[in-house]
Amino acid sequence: MANVAVRDKKAVGVKELLLQALETESGGIEVYRTALKCAVHEDLRKEWEEYLEQTENHQQIVLNLCEQLGLDAEEETPGRRVVRHLGESLVKAMEMALEAGDPNGAQLVATECVVLAETKDHQNWELIGELAKKSTGNEKKALREAHEEVEDEEDEHYYHTKGWSRELWIETLGMPAVLPPPEEEKDVKTAIGAARAKNARKKML
Ligand SMILES: [Fe+2]
Ligand SMILES: [Fe+2]
Repeated sequence: MANVAVRDKKAVGVKELLLQALETESGGIEVYRTALKCAVHEDLRKEWEEYLEQTENHQQIVLNLCEQLGLDAEEETPGRRVVRHLGESLVKAMEMALEAGDPNGAQLVATECVVLAETKDHQNWELIGELAKKSTGNEKKALREAHEEVEDEEDEHYYHTKGWSRELWIETLGMPAVLPPPEEEKDVKTAIGAARAKNARKKML
């Protein structure tokens, strides 16, 4: 009896994570489309165009995952609604910044909105990776393959945009900035790598 209860609890959690991941990727597409309207720096624009394409692919990957795991991708949950609300709020925040008529200010807002969106996206995929380790059979295979395809890209989305946000702020404060940021130059994909890149920025000025 206890085992069944644990299994049911896990199944509910897996479904919730994947539906939230799907909503994060769908919202992420809109976040990038709006962020691209705010991008002033050419290299940042190119980076986000690439991330938008990757996010469209991630959405498809999560849709396939839902199908493989027998989940209804359309099912609404309270948690999923919150994720949608947050994504829409980020889009609205960037539109507000665009309307204010300060392109560099709007670009800064967009970098922060992307970092916020990617914080959730990054964690979703970290959890999907953990789940894959503890799963068995077809579920394990599906989760592992999806995770392997997406993980590195999510690391880049998060750490590199964080670097852009910091350096563009530093530039705004009238201090010498490293652009593109050290995270991009050093192809950072881990938290420790991001810390090293940040430490190395002085040498890169
Ligand atoms: Fe993603
Ligand atoms: Fe992402």
